Order: sequence, then structure tokens, then C-alpha cells
Amino acid sequence: MGIRVSPQSRLQCFAAHITDQIRLGEQKPFKEVIDVSSGDFHRAGMKPISFVRQVLAVCLYPELLKDKHVAEDVRRRAQTLLGVCAGDSVGSYSASAGIPHVRQSIAEFIARRDAGVPSYVKDVFISSGSQSALKVIFHLMADVEGKTQRGVLTPMPCPHTLPPLLDMSGLTLVPYQLKEDRGWAVDLDELHRALNSARGRCEPMAIYISNPGNPTGHVQDRKSIEEVIEFAAAERLVLLVDEVYQDSVYGGDREFISYKKVLFEMDKSFSETVELVSFHSISSPCMGECGLRAGYMELINMDPEVMHFIDILLDTYISTPVTGQLALDIMVNPPKPGDASYDTYTQEVLLTRATLSHNARRVQEFLNDLPGMSCQPAMGGIYLYPHVHLPTEITEQAEMLQMEADVLYCQMLLEEEGVFVGAGCEHGETTGQHRLRLCILVPPNTLDGVLTRLGSFHLRLLDKPLLHRKNHT
Ligand SMILES: Cc1ncc(COP(=O)(O)O)c(C=O)c1O
Repeated sequence: MGIRVSPQSRLQCFAAHITDQIRLGEQKPFKEVIDVSSGDFHRAGMKPISFVRQVLAVCLYPELLKDKHVAEDVRRRAQTLLGVCAGDSVGSYSASAGIPHVRQSIAEFIARRDAGVPSYVKDVFISSGSQSALKVIFHLMADVEGKTQRGVLTPMPCPHTLPPLLDMSGLTLVPYQLKEDRGWAVDLDELHRALNSARGRCEPMAIYISNPGNPTGHVQDRKSIEEVIEFAAAERLVLLVDEVYQDSVYGGDREFISYKKVLFEMDKSFSETVELVSFHSISSPCMGECGLRAGYMELINMDPEVMHFIDILLDTYISTPVTGQLALDIMVNPPKPGDASYDTYTQEVLLTRATLSHNARRVQEFLNDLPGMSCQPAMGGIYLYPHVHLPTEITEQAEMLQMEADVLYCQMLLEEEGVFVGAGCEHGETTGQHRLRLCILVPPNTLDGVLTRLGSFHLRLLDKPLLHRKNHT
């Protein structure tokens, strides 16, 4: 089987190469590469939440339990968490589905979030991040004997990580177009069209939803969620819902409503039958602890045999990193009013949300002011996804180099200005338009650099598309 190297991986290698060159003293028009191509917030300079790191520090070095300089609630939480680790150590393995105490905290968090809709520990599975959990579900869906080609309805644009994951799992990507002119809405007629066009080609098993949307920044309202649930019920599709960006909705009139809450407020013919898997993780914007690797999925209305298989599959992954699981516990059970760390924790989370909201507005206005760029406002999540009109010279050169024109744009931007943005072609787009993906959760001064460099590159490109460039091969 041939392995296709994605444009993102190639650009990542190129960015690493430039960084190495700078380290070795090569002169560049910039001092460092700024990577805003993906949701890796700490890499981009965002700070971790103090309480998370303090508790983990004590868990990693329990001698600190005796240190009175460490806040009392930090030591108390670390003591509790160490008590739920085998051998009182983060160095031990955990059960394959996760530490029972953390699963319990997650179930309580979900019930609180969803205004009392119950959540049960048995339905919650911890994994090394939401993408690992999704991989487990895709693995279950694929027909390992290869007799039937199975498919997943996938939004266009979709998260750039999704097509390779489907590919690796042997599942067919069945595209449905989000409606940009309606704020990237999920359109019911389009879902039916996509499903009908897939039948005969493959057996559609599931519909994938990203809400808040990656990379589109849309946030579904209750009516839209109900429509998708009714569609999934009628067509007997499993609902796979990525809700990792649930803690970052900033669009004026929108709030995050979970699919599960909406499902349980619908008629029993839905709430007791529709199979739903929802994903969340510590890679959420407010936590940003992507490198600690932990997340969870909650499975609703799933056959007990499927649940059993999931347990077995997770067992083959051995164990989610225990430090990540403890961070997950803190995410779902943060300091409470009256705790010593409450004020700092709250301020840090609010600062992240304010940064995101402020940056979203600022970047959108900036991009819309550039000739040849247009950008929908985002309501949540971490990306903006502007449309970029490229000069014919660039599209022709890309064709000559047998690469996508937006990848060429990203490569030139990286080489000339040291700014790394994602290429739209990775989102499964087939509309012939060129787009960019920009992660906007970066410190404001980093954003200054990104916008200045991107702006001057873009204007130069429009002015003299090829004159000032080297040979891009
Ligand atoms: C669509 C999507 N959701 C969520 C995440 C976060 O993934 P994880 O929880 O595995 O870090 C990613 C990261 O690549 C992603 O692409």
C-alpha cells in the first residue's frame, strides 16, 4: 500500500528545515517561523493553565505534597489524583478504558453541562486524544474482510486530519457541502443528495459532524442539530460528533449546545434509538494540552457488544498516558469558588476566550481588507478559513509543478516570510476555490507578526506574482 504524504506534512518538513537553517546562522528576512497551520496552541506561545501544571507537577514529584509554598487546593487535588493511580504513581498503567475516577468525573461534567441529562461511566471511554478515539470507531465500522465498502458522510470543508484517517481505515469519504453563504450551515437537502449519490458506491454507516466547526468556525443552533439527528435516525446512520472546541464559542448570538442534550430533549423515538458518539479532549482551546494526549468519547444507544469491542480495541492501545488523564480530570472538574486557585484559573480561561474572540474579529477584518481575500466571520473554534483569489501566474506555475495552487501559496509564504498557514486543499474541497487555514489562538503580539508578514507577502504576490521568487520545486 502506497503512503501519500500530505501537503501539511510536506510543509511541516519545510518549516522544520527553515528553522534548522536559522539555527545554523543562515540569514533570512525573519527571525523565526510562526506556525499557525494547526491547533497547537502552546507551540504558538499560548500559556498553559497554572492549576493544571501545578497539580501535575506535584503528581510527578509527590515530595511537593509536603511543600507549604504550593497552594493547599493544588496539593489536595494532587493527593486525590495520586490516590486513584495504581501504586499511587503516574508511572503506572491504567485500565484500558481509563482511570475509573476520571471516567466518573467526565460523566458528572457531561451531566452538569447538559443540564441534568444523565451520563453513565460505562458509556465513557478515555483515549489518547479524540483522534485516537475516532480511529477506534472507524476501525469498528470498516469491514475488515473487505466484502463491503463502507462510507462516512463528511462535511466539505472537513478537518484536515479526517481524510487521511478515513483513508487509513479503509472507509469511503462521502462529501456533503456546507453552505458558506449561510454561515457554513449544514443543509438537509444536501445531506440527502450526498447520501443518495453514495448509495451503490458504498454503504454509508455514519455522518461526521464538527461543531464548533473545524476549519469553518460555524456553531450549529438547536434547530440545525435536531435536523441532523432526524436525518441520522431516518437513514440509520451513526452520529459522530467532534465537540472538542465546545469551550470556545464567541459569536454573539450562539452558544454551544451538545448533540446529546438536544437528542435527549427530543421524542423517545430518537433519544432511545439514535446512536451517537461524541468526542472531547484536553486539546480544547482553553486547555491546549495537546501534547499530554488524552480525550474521551461518550457512546449513546450503542449495542453492548459494540461497547465490548471498543473496550477490547482500546486494550490494544494499552493505556492512555496517566498524566493526560489527570489533566482531563482537571478540565472536567476545575477549581470551584472558594478554592485558592479559583480566581487565577478563571482569569486564565477568560483570557484565552477573550484572546480568541478578539483575534477572530481582528483577523477577519484584516483578511477582508486585503485584495483578493474574503473571509466569513467565525462563531467558535480556533480557525479562520479565508478564500484567496490567486493570480493566474501562480495557478499556472502550480500546475507546472504538479501541486495545488494553495499549497504553492503556503510554501512561498513560508519561504519568504516564515509564516506557516494550512492549505485549503487538505479539507477535501472540490469547488475549485483556493483557501487558507489559520489558527487564531495565538498571543496578540505573535498575531501582529503573522498579519504583517502575511499582508506584505500577499500584496507583493498580487503585484508581481513571480518576479521576486526563487524556483519553487
Ligand atoms: C478535527 C479535530 N478535532 C480535534 C482535534 C484534537 O485532537 P486530539 O484530541 O487527538 O489532540 C484535532 C487535532 O488534530 C482535529 O483535527
